[in-house]
Amino acid sequence: MRTAEIRERWLTFFEENGHTVVPSASVISDDPSILFNIAGMVQFIPYLSGREPAPFARATSVQKCVRTQDIEEVGKTTRHGTFFQMNGNFSFGDYFKADAIRFAWQLLTRAESEGGLAFDPDRLWATVHHDDAETVDLWLEQTSIPRERIQFRGSDDNFWHTGQPGPGGYCSEIYYDRGPGYGVEGGPVADEDRYIEIWNLVFMEFELSAVRSKTDFDIKGDLPAKNIDTGMGLERVAFLKQGVENMYEIDEVFPVIEAASRLSGRAYGADGDDDVRMRVVADHVRSALVIIGDGVRPGNEGRGYILRRLLRRAVRAMRLLGVTEPVVPHLLPVSMEAMKASYPELEADFDRISRVAYAEETAFLRTLESGTQLLAGAVDRVGTGGAIAGDIAFALHDTHGFPIDLTLEMASEHGVTVDEEGFRSLMQEQRDRARADARAKKGGAADLSAYSQLLDDGASEFVGYDALSADARVRGLVSDGGAVDRAAVGDTVDLVLDVTPFYAESGGQRADQGLIRGDGFLARVLDVQAPVKGLPAHRVEVLDGEIAPGADVFAEVDSAHRFAAAQAHSATHLVHSALRTVLGPHAVQAGSLNQPGYMRFDYAFPDALTPAMRAEIEDAANIAVRDDFDVSYEYLPLDEAKRSGALALFGEKYPSVVRVVDIGGPFSRELCGGTHVARTAQVGPISLLSEASVGSGTRRVEAAVGLDAFRGLARERTILQSLSEMLKVPGTDVPERVSSLLGRLKEAERTIAELGRARVLAAAADAVANTRDIGGVRFSATELGDVADAGDVRSFVTDVRNRIDADAVVVAAVGTVGGKPSVVVAADEGAQSRGLRAGDLVKRACTELGGGGGGKPDLAQGGGQDAARIPQALDAVATAIAEA
Ligand code: ALA
Repeated sequence: MRTAEIRERWLTFFEENGHTVVPSASVISDDPSILFNIAGMVQFIPYLSGREPAPFARATSVQKCVRTQDIEEVGKTTRHGTFFQMNGNFSFGDYFKADAIRFAWQLLTRAESEGGLAFDPDRLWATVHHDDAETVDLWLEQTSIPRERIQFRGSDDNFWHTGQPGPGGYCSEIYYDRGPGYGVEGGPVADEDRYIEIWNLVFMEFELSAVRSKTDFDIKGDLPAKNIDTGMGLERVAFLKQGVENMYEIDEVFPVIEAASRLSGRAYGADGDDDVRMRVVADHVRSALVIIGDGVRPGNEGRGYILRRLLRRAVRAMRLLGVTEPVVPHLLPVSMEAMKASYPELEADFDRISRVAYAEETAFLRTLESGTQLLAGAVDRVGTGGAIAGDIAFALHDTHGFPIDLTLEMASEHGVTVDEEGFRSLMQEQRDRARADARAKKGGAADLSAYSQLLDDGASEFVGYDALSADARVRGLVSDGGAVDRAAVGDTVDLVLDVTPFYAESGGQRADQGLIRGDGFLARVLDVQAPVKGLPAHRVEVLDGEIAPGADVFAEVDSAHRFAAAQAHSATHLVHSALRTVLGPHAVQAGSLNQPGYMRFDYAFPDALTPAMRAEIEDAANIAVRDDFDVSYEYLPLDEAKRSGALALFGEKYPSVVRVVDIGGPFSRELCGGTHVARTAQVGPISLLSEASVGSGTRRVEAAVGLDAFRGLARERTILQSLSEMLKVPGTDVPERVSSLLGRLKEAERTIAELGRARVLAAAADAVANTRDIGGVRFSATELGDVADAGDVRSFVTDVRNRIDADAVVVAAVGTVGGKPSVVVAADEGAQSRGLRAGDLVKRACTELGGGGGGKPDLAQGGGQDAARIPQALDAVATAIAEA
């Protein structure tokens, strides 16, 4: 049974039982503390926790999930996949344990001809939490399972929560017995390889206030309603139904293993290590496909880093299989073909997805090259049997993207070891630094529970689109991640208000600045972030007095700062629109930053802008400023907003009702929560400062905006004026004049060089004519004066030696290069047979000059410091000849 068919059977079964079919959410999680969705229930948390009314009493989904904590296990076990699909059925205050058990049993055991999955009921086992005896009775009442195939377990296995405060509850798991060939008797408590967990039924009835570990958490109370959350592992059921040995051999994954085997010429099933590598390749390529499909791009942090790591591990595994050419172009299309039955969007969007993946492999192969050189150099230095220092391994990891195990393997191929401990301590230092940075940036927001608790009273109201000040009440103070009950002069705390005019940093726009005052109290707002959605936290420095929750305050945004940020943000929309006009609709936004006087915009595009494109974009944006378009906004349902042509950021999850910012009707329409000017003329000039690549396939333009743009241009005018005065031509003629001056300079340099060579040539004739005989050796010594470089002296000396006809010849010459003497000595075979070696002779000369030199017996070269002693240096050569 194909995986896509199991999925269809699942959805149909639950739909027939009154469940609304809900599409999978993106793998990208909404929650900033979780990078990827890890379970089907995540998108339903607001309904499960009772924070929002559920639009349906029952729902079912097949959720795309990514978990990478166990990445090292991939390929080694039967069931660790970095990407997997979780089939779920959910009840929001509707049915509870009995029906959840009955549904699961029916679907699992029903015949295939009746839409079921036809598992042999005699091979199914169930586990129950030991404090939840009621569930055992329900199993016996709702199904034909015998009591001896129900086992009790503790919270480690049979209590489920997300790892964060929120809903949780006891669970009951269903296992399938693969048979005696796979392990010992005794049920899931005895062997989880033989007994494979296929389905987890969670009875969500508690609200957890704190979660410290899997089994260490605080129960705050009962949820407003009893809910059901279940998760069936689609890949696990598929591998059992398809009669293969593990999840990597199912129809959606195995074709990539076959492709890897073809590419490497190694058979799958022949060698244990190779098999693991092929499974890693197949798993990681599939995960990368889905993750890029949902809009993530490779990077060095967060989701981007995980994606990068997956792709690099896949490429590396192929290298270990002996393939050094690019592999992703051979593997990714195979994975897409295997996945498209369930995810047709992967095929539709494959052009974009594959470009991102291929570029990442190309980038890695490039660093792999330089990393390999770095490693080879280190191997040479330490020699066979030596140990490569930890900082080299760290540099390979950090700069060249080498996972440590790649470094270890490559080092051992060269017979050297690696100081792993040194490497790990450098990694730890880096992690500590990153954590400290994160703490500094978010003020201990890693633990968000203090903010989440404030959110229990509802979101703060943002009034800043229309007002720059507001009366407000302090809802809470948070410091270092914990609630505090007062703050006084000198303290820096996060202040949460019931109403705020302050814009929290988001959508690329920097946070507002300003003041918050109260009775005898004054604080400066340094930053505003929303650590949890709907709850802006004002990072303030208390300048005067004291503040406590419940106090009335007056919050006032710095209007000049806000206006300048709004100018920059509107400028970004204008530049975005201008870019798309010039480059086409493929230039999609990849990120932006708006702060007073400056904007930065990243977009997907493979090539650099030509000067003509740059000018055209800048012109179009400034014409839109001159046109003084009206800037307006409206709230629309997401679908309608997209239909109306509003641009959305790829991979961003939007709420069902969105804000659309419209500039000049068709000129620009974007989904945007930012603040803007009222009319485009208020933006002022936009001046493009730079255009550059920021990673594969992404470009960045930067621009100065408003008064800053004007001042930048004025500065350039001053520079041009001074050049124009210096060159005595009008400003418009400066480029031509500079280029003609450069031409003349080059010409002059050429002439000087030619004259120099002619002089050397003439000197050669003199030198040949004026030799002296020292004990049968013909000796020529010349002071050449200034020469362009030591090469001139060398060619002079060899030329002279070749032209003197005698039994034994020594030629010496000294030229000065930049004031420093440069010496060359030649000795022909006759001279050498008398014991005169050029290397020794040049050393004698150089010693006189306060330097050194050396070379071969026939030609040697050296230098010194003291040009005044050149005659003595040449005499020293003559003396040496006489002594011989
Ligand atoms: N949310 C439950 C799980 O992930 C079903 O196992």
